[in-house]
Amino acid sequence: MRSDGATDSGNIPKHIGIIMDGNGRWASKRLLPRSAGHRAGVKNITKIVSAAFDSGVDCVTLYAFSTENAFRPEQEVNSLVDLIRKQLKPMTRELIEKGARVIFSGDLSYFPNDVCEIIKEIATENADGWGQIVNIALNYSGRTEIVRAAALAAESGNVTAESLERNLYTNGLPELDMIIRTGGEKRLSNFLLYQAAYSELFFTDTLWPDFGKSELFDMLAEFNHRQRKFGKV
Ligand code: IPE
Ligand code: IPE
Ligand code: MG
Repeated sequence: MRSDGATDSGNIPKHIGIIMDGNGRWASKRLLPRSAGHRAGVKNITKIVSAAFDSGVDCVTLYAFSTENAFRPEQEVNSLVDLIRKQLKPMTRELIEKGARVIFSGDLSYFPNDVCEIIKEIATENADGWGQIVNIALNYSGRTEIVRAAALAAESGNVTAESLERNLYTNGLPELDMIIRTGGEKRLSNFLLYQAAYSELFFTDTLWPDFGKSELFDMLAEFNHRQRKFGKV
């Protein structure tokens, strides 16, 4: 272990997916509106992604808004879209300044034009960068991603694992080695269903706004000790 708690040697996951769950309960516990939990959740993102990058992780995919989340009560959806509108740029600025590239996964056409413009601008910044990658899943559905990729592969006349994978949002990203879900639920909730085939799964009861670096480092240390077999002996 390094002095900052991160693992120093061995197997560092190249790509981590994070299901950032528990914002609503974090707020309810404090008698605050759910939107306050989402704000607290956004504040936690840069710290955790930076810590993952500093530990040697190359790519982090963040589950920020699922296609199903769009069917929450209008007031909550509006507050989430507004948070994206106001906080996406400040949230990604520090990571981009450090050399990271920000990309997006999901059906972004769902969002109002001004939000689409913000997303486009962020994706254009450092687009040629060779640094670490932050992949933000917005209006994302794992099933829809697979159906879309299969349809695009079929259009090209050749459905194979390779042609399908080329049409996933994660094309070109490293294998998804690890998935972290905060908030206590033990399910994938339609996150990276294809990519999760051999991911190591980590679940914690900690609510996303409370998830800190030390817990991330503990998980990275455990990942280092897990024996991955990929179906072999
Ligand atoms: C996750 O937190 C963030 C989003 C889904 C946008 P939740 O809003 O699901 O929080 P809980 O699960 O209700 O506590
Ligand atoms: C998953 O959390 C989606 C995000 C974290 C963005 P949900 O809170 O939507 O998942 P369920 O409803 O508990 O399965
Ligand atoms: Mg939830």
